[in-house]
Amino acid sequence: MNLVCATRDPALNTATKADPAFLAEVLAGLSARQKVVPARWLYDHRGSELFEAITTLPEYHPTRTEHSILERHAKDIAERVGRGRVVIEFGSGSSTKTPLLLSAIEPEAYVPIDVSGEFLHESLQVLSRSFPGLPIHPVVGDFTKPMQLPRLGHSPRLGFFPGSTIGNFVAPEAVDLLRTMATTLGDAAQLLIGVDRIKDPQVLVPAYDDAAGVTAQFNLNLLDRINRELSGTIPVGAFRHRAIWNDDEARIEMHLLATRDLGFEVADHLFRMRAGETIHTENSIKYGTRDVRVLLRAGGWTPVAEWTDAQQLFSVVLAEATPRRVGP
Ligand code: SAH
Ligand code: AVI
Repeated sequence: MNLVCATRDPALNTATKADPAFLAEVLAGLSARQKVVPARWLYDHRGSELFEAITTLPEYHPTRTEHSILERHAKDIAERVGRGRVVIEFGSGSSTKTPLLLSAIEPEAYVPIDVSGEFLHESLQVLSRSFPGLPIHPVVGDFTKPMQLPRLGHSPRLGFFPGSTIGNFVAPEAVDLLRTMATTLGDAAQLLIGVDRIKDPQVLVPAYDDAAGVTAQFNLNLLDRINRELSGTIPVGAFRHRAIWNDDEARIEMHLLATRDLGFEVADHLFRMRAGETIHTENSIKYGTRDVRVLLRAGGWTPVAEWTDAQQLFSVVLAEATPRRVGP
């Protein structure tokens, strides 16, 4: 199997190497019975831009709801977190909610982590102007893998994981991720995490299938990315965005639906799909308030406070790293 293939970036007009992890996961996922591509590959630069556009849609409640919770309870959060911590943000994206936290807790340093490198650096240009004295150390990388963070004083760390990005990981992966975060953050760490609540599917489905078709573009962009970066020949126009509520799993699923029988290549590998067959591209799991606490405990965190909005659409939970001990 040819694991490295040359692609041409039209913007730079230079030959670039495909990310071997992207190639391997796409080839494995498209070979499965239910075709699947892991959701983190939705975020190339265009994907990050499209996600930003989603956050302002009238149908997409999570971003504005979490923003309003952080704004309203900033003082209370600051009292519980204390000042001078090092803030590590997982999947920081545009860092638009981050100023609310940074202003409230006056951290010693800020470390945003994201896979979408160029977008991360662009976003930080805006943020650093608002916090001129704050040391900022961006890390481009995959937060699901244990990582060595830059050495930043001796203050305990606060993990910030907003946006309900935890919902994009099925339970075993979410538990692994929370445990990896506990290891990365170290002793006396805290975690401030945003989680979207279970609610009426009539609210949830439009949030992932908006009238303007922005979420459809976000989903379909994955196929353009595969074509561009992995020498793909996918007929993008033959696919439709589909968002469904899976009640058994308490999750929204995004799929790309083949509207006709078709075939395509990715890096010289041939794939066929029947009309009606889908590629599963994202889960967005929704949680009840008790479910979140169980998940956090399983991941090595003890929940200590929770804030929500008047309609209980979204929760922001503060947790402390659970000291290791032998249970009863
Ligand atoms: N925190 C922001 C953005 C959420 S979108 C908010 O609350 O609005 C999810 C972000 O996580 C994207 O910026 C995406 O690039 C990043 N991301 C997704 N999977 C990742 C991974 N495995 N490692 C690092 N970043 C990841
Ligand atoms: C980043 N993540 C939590 C978003 C979500 O709601 O699952 C990604 C997204 N997918 C479609 N719309 C938004």
